This record gives sequence, C-alpha cells and structure tokens, in this order.
Amino acid sequence: MTERSTEEVKSCCVTAYESDVAAMLLGESYHPGGLDLTLQLAKDAGVTAGTKVIDIASGTGASAFLLARELSARGHGIDLGAQNVEKATAKAAEQGLEEMVRFSVGDAEKIRFADESTDVVFCECAFSTFTSKEQAASEMFRICKPGGVVAFSDVVLEGTNVGEELLSLAGWIACIADAKPVETYVDYLEKAGFALQETQRHDDAIVKMVDLIEARIQAFSMIKQLPDSFDKKQAETLLEQARQAIKDDVLGYVTIIAGK
Ligand SMILES: C[S@@+](CC[C@H](N)C(=O)[O-])C[C@H]1O[C@@H](n2cnc3c(N)ncnc32)[C@H](O)[C@@H]1O
Repeated sequence: MTERSTEEVKSCCVTAYESDVAAMLLGESYHPGGLDLTLQLAKDAGVTAGTKVIDIASGTGASAFLLARELSARGHGIDLGAQNVEKATAKAAEQGLEEMVRFSVGDAEKIRFADESTDVVFCECAFSTFTSKEQAASEMFRICKPGGVVAFSDVVLEGTNVGEELLSLAGWIACIADAKPVETYVDYLEKAGFALQETQRHDDAIVKMVDLIEARIQAFSMIKQLPDSFDKKQAETLLEQARQAIKDDVLGYVTIIAGK
C-alpha cells in the first residue's frame, strides 16, 4: 500500500463497522445478500452438522450464528474489532450457542490458528478491505484442512473508471475502493494453493443493499436519529456513484468456492 497507511485503513475499517451507524444502516449482516446469501454459500460449500467453520472478519457474528442454528456447524469467528467480538461473544451466551460458536480478536493477515485446523474457511465481504491480500489468502490456505474449502464472497470492481468517492478511504471501508475483478480474487486464492470450484455472480444483491441503505438514511434522518458525526452528504454521493457503477457493469458481487 502506498497512498494510505496500512494502520490507518485497518483502524478506520474497524471503527466504522463497530459504530452504531453501521448497525442502523446495515442491520445484523454486513454484506450484500445478507443471511440468505450466507446460507446458500454455506450449503454450496458443503457445511453440514459438525463442520468446523472459521469465519474470517466475522463482524457482529451473524453468519456464524446462522450456520450454528440452521446447519449445526461449529464456528469460530475472528475480527480485528474488539467491541464487535465482545458483543458477538455476549450474544452467543444469550442464545445458548456458546458451545457451538466462539469469537476472538484476530487479524486475517496473521491468523492465530494451527495449520489445517478447519474444514471451511468463511470470508464474506472483507477480503477487499484487507491490506495484504496475498498474506490473508496464504493464511486461509494454511488453516484449511486438506479436502476443506474456502467459501468467499466480496464486492467486484472492474477497473477504476468510477466516481472518486468510491475510491476514497470511505470507499475502501465500504469494500469498494480495493475490490477486484473476479479473476483477481481467484488468482489470489489459487496462488495461495486453493483450486477453484465455482464462482457465482450476485450483482442484484448489491443493488438491493444500496436501495436499503438509502432508504434507511432517509428514514433515520427524518426522525433525526443519525449522529452528528455521520456525513450524510458523503454517504449519499457514495451511494449515487455506486448506483452508476452498477449500471455501468463495473460494480457487482460474487461468491467463490475453492478447495484445498
Ligand atoms: C463489511 S464487514 C463484514 C463483516 C461480516 N463478515 C459480515 O459479512 O457481516 C468487514 C469486517 O472486516 C473486519 N476486518 C477488516 N480488516 C480485517 C483484518 N485484517 N482482520 C480481521 N478482520 C478485519 C472489520 O472489522 C469488519 O468487521
């Protein structure tokens, strides 16, 4: 990374996803397609009762809870955000899922799990924000058991001919500024050692997410619930530019499954 320091990007990303505004605008699941897409991805990746899943950049833990509830998978979520990890841990206890799902603070680029310690590595809408994607992909491969898979979803960005807000730090946090074409994501995973099994485009999911965030901004703004620190104008510009990029077929969403 050159223009922005690694530490600046990491800490802004964590702060943004721990804020109340993130929860207000995104709901419980912080990626396009929400929990429906999570469940589909998990089923496609072969997650069943007892499968061990490590969720990299688990956010509020919503996906790990879903996999435990719906598929009886055993999960461990790691995220750089200590507050979200604490909240997810408390939620696991409230839901009686503490034996099935754990959370800890951890960096995707230096994962504190042993080699070959999980059946499935899950990573939704976060790889695009990692400052060293090679390192993260190599760590995912290291912790995956032979015969296991990585189940991945992320924003797709085909080139940089987009509105400048999308390429700003805010765009980075929104998983857009350093998002990649599908082939580049596949390349990172293959260079780490994984073998591609399938890719699926879900571009409609990103359209729905933009609509939802826009509607929520309007609603919370009408009832004056948005904090003063929230830059409504910047958010609206970002959404408008995202809409244009989707229309131009430059911005989309993908799921990828690759095996070890
Ligand atoms: C868009 S959110 C996605 C959260 C979750 N996967 C979901 O789909 O609901 C991105 C998450 O990546 C986390 N994150 C960013 N960089 C990270 C890193 N290097 N290691 C671990 N977590 C990271 C952020 O704290 C944030 O929770």
